[in-house]
Amino acid sequence: MDKKVALVTGANGEVGHLLLDRLASKGYEVIALDIKEIDPAISIFINKSYKTDITDEASIESILKEAKPDIVFHLAAYLSTAAEKDPDLAHHVNVDGTLYLLRSAQRYSFEAKKKIIIVFPSSIAVYGLPDLTTKNSASFVSETQFTTPITIYGITKLHAENLGIYFEKYYKLLNPQQERYIDFRALRFPGLISAMTIPSGGTSDYAPEMIHTLAQGQNYESFVREDTILPFMAMPDAIKALTLIAETPKEKLSQNVYNVSSFSISAAEIAQMVIKVFPETMVGYNPDPARQKIVDSWPANINDTSARRDWGWFPDFDAKKTFENYLIPEVTKKYSGQK
Ligand code: SER
Repeated sequence: MDKKVALVTGANGEVGHLLLDRLASKGYEVIALDIKEIDPAISIFINKSYKTDITDEASIESILKEAKPDIVFHLAAYLSTAAEKDPDLAHHVNVDGTLYLLRSAQRYSFEAKKKIIIVFPSSIAVYGLPDLTTKNSASFVSETQFTTPITIYGITKLHAENLGIYFEKYYKLLNPQQERYIDFRALRFPGLISAMTIPSGGTSDYAPEMIHTLAQGQNYESFVREDTILPFMAMPDAIKALTLIAETPKEKLSQNVYNVSSFSISAAEIAQMVIKVFPETMVGYNPDPARQKIVDSWPANINDTSARRDWGWFPDFDAKKTFENYLIPEVTKKYSGQK
């Protein structure tokens, strides 16, 4: 049987780094697309790469026609803090980029007469709880609650989810003969923590920044309060979720957008877990009001029962395993000799 072709946009990012590796080991033909040259560290996992801007629709369409992907993992996006610094650009990349990809994918797959799966990482940023009291009293937030984001990032992710659903189910609704070829699947991720890379431009970044900084023997000043609670997930679980939803038969998916969750933890608890291993280090707290406001609007816990029911999602790493079996050993290895 021919190998399945997977195209990954924003391949150089944190998620891309591990996803390319996993797709290659699962036997996919891997095509990487990024605005920058592909990091040599991950180029061994790819069959071909394209240096292209996701907002260049003509080039996205010609890449689709040349690469003929069965699945696109559309990772290219600005994260929340970066997006807030330039909302217009973030909107252009996160929304227009997604629209151009969906439109080109529809045209390409219409011509090829074959369905194309688009897997889209969305985020807890699509939620916007009005205040901290509501956040503290809300229980596990489901996909349909509190979808009133306060950041441009959350707004663009929510909009992109809806665009994907539109292209799959309703594109050119007035034309009864319209054939639709997009199969759109989105995951709302909590904050992701990788042992290999440090994110840039996110607001949940205090967690990975803290871990990587302490592991290098330095102190960390957190930009959120110590009692800030967010849901997090170890990067290997995020990759598992992306590949699992991509490979699930469509008839098992009762919705297009799924929460996926792993564990919830406060900034102080993260600090405690890491300081235990690097006792010469310290964490201070100097909350940035704007970034604090953003995380205070994100839920502390999300309900992922639909993903568990429909496609058998479960995380391999709870908080203890994330720190003890993944983060601590890996970051210790990464920075050994640097202190
Ligand atoms: N980690 C993301 C951010 O902080 C949330 O999806 O922007």
